[in-house]
Amino acid sequence: MTIATIPTAPIEGQKPGTSGLRKKVAVFAEPGYLETYTQAIFNAIQPKGAVLVLGGDGRYFNRDAMATILRIAAANGVARVIVGQGGILSTPAASHLIRTRNADGGLILSASHNPGGPEGDFGLKYNIANGGPAPESVTDTIVTCAEHIDRYHILKASAPTLDTLGESSVGDMVIEVVDPVADYAALMEDLFDFDALRQMFAGGFTLCFDAMHAVTGPYATEILERRLGAASGSVINAVPSEDFGGGHPDPNPVWAKRLYDLMLGSDAPDFGAASDGDGDRNMIMGHGIYVTPSDSLAVLAANAHLVPGYKSGISGVARSMPTSAASDRVAKKLGVEAFQTPTGWKFFGNLLDAGRATLCGEESAGTGSNHVREKDGLWAVLMWLNILAVRKVAVDEVLTSHWAEFGRDYYSRHDYEGITADGATALMSALKADLPLLPGRSSDGMTVASAEDFSYADPIDGSVSTGQGIILTYKGGARAVLRLSGTGTEGATLRVYLEQYAEPNQAHDLDAQIALLQVINATTSIAQIKHFTGRDGPDVIS
Ligand code: G1P
Ligand code: ZN
Repeated sequence: MTIATIPTAPIEGQKPGTSGLRKKVAVFAEPGYLETYTQAIFNAIQPKGAVLVLGGDGRYFNRDAMATILRIAAANGVARVIVGQGGILSTPAASHLIRTRNADGGLILSASHNPGGPEGDFGLKYNIANGGPAPESVTDTIVTCAEHIDRYHILKASAPTLDTLGESSVGDMVIEVVDPVADYAALMEDLFDFDALRQMFAGGFTLCFDAMHAVTGPYATEILERRLGAASGSVINAVPSEDFGGGHPDPNPVWAKRLYDLMLGSDAPDFGAASDGDGDRNMIMGHGIYVTPSDSLAVLAANAHLVPGYKSGISGVARSMPTSAASDRVAKKLGVEAFQTPTGWKFFGNLLDAGRATLCGEESAGTGSNHVREKDGLWAVLMWLNILAVRKVAVDEVLTSHWAEFGRDYYSRHDYEGITADGATALMSALKADLPLLPGRSSDGMTVASAEDFSYADPIDGSVSTGQGIILTYKGGARAVLRLSGTGTEGATLRVYLEQYAEPNQAHDLDAQIALLQVINATTSIAQIKHFTGRDGPDVIS
């Protein structure tokens, strides 16, 4: 085995954001960049003799990056790499494979819902042996290694193409190419009542799943159409492409517009859903109704016992801090624990490993459970379908009956995209400096009850994460959260999360922007959003 050791310069200030390292393709493709960063990961994890899983969402640069990573892995003494055929694995499927094969970890190549193609984004994320994203202790070590690196090791031989199932070797390392769908589909068969679902589809239930030309196409076609009998063509945009058909593979009303419009029209199928670039996010819709991710988590928690994989109940529900309090209300009624964690799936890992939480969710279209250690788009779809198959009611009835029982948490997120980093930082600093003065302050008919700079002490390992966003709690059941995005690749993005609770006996049929008008206006003024961003309003409302 001939290894080249190549001198390289440190990579400074490349702290992975909310979800791994994400950069423009052009940055990852710069000579030595991917090589150096991959070596930094290996310096941090010391992979001699390790078994690793490798997969990506199939975006532009995926194959080239795989070939490079395989050569560096071999040069660093990795024993075996399990890789999805064609270099493809959805993020939840990669998480499952790490767990089911007892691998030491995995590398996932994706920039999630960010656009792909030569001008688009690329990303690299390291997951640990539990199948989940590396915790901050590990990502901090990777950053330190990247800042001190001076060489990388790479096999001189080229890596094999990944199109043929089975084992081959490169240097002393075994490369095992596996079917990307098979193990994942088997896990779904374990969790859900496939007979009941087959009966539902045989009885005429209709569905449209938008795979957004991204990685879930083959997974959704196999599970929904082939195994469950949904009509052929129920999965749209099913063929993955390197640039996601030129769109953003982001399952929301803006980017999944064809599906969104279909579901609000008169010819809507019974159920609509979409997933993102790497298959971990979901959008859920019924005829005439969009389910917010916060509500979806609450509904799944309240109904989980109807699904075979969760029939003995759930131990707890964890949600990211900006996610609405809807799931807390369910946890309270069920008498199980409710957790509020910082943004990012990695914060759920310890709670899931310790059995303290069974379901987790984020307002950003992420929902999942202890079946893997990533959020899982298709899993969320199957949860909903299984619940509908048991309850035999439509999506809108599930929601209205949920609100009648628990009340409704009106919810919306306002994003100010591409603002200057200076403006964004100044806004957050001003707000932090003002925190002690905010309680009691009134604006637009709202009064601040408390103001907090959110920090989280992990209940399992005691690690503390500070500066995770500002929470303004208003009197009367309203709340606003302000934080800066950690996944962007251009400028800064301010996210403002808004919620207002309506009791079970109050109106549940208002437009969310109307129900939230006062909290929107009060927050805009208290945080001086116009002043610091120079914007009159958000770029994206979801
Ligand atoms: C966004 C979401 C966050 C999610 C992350 C990775 O991060 O808001 O919930 O965990 O993507 O999918 P942000 O850009 O807000 O840092
Ligand atoms: Zn994703």
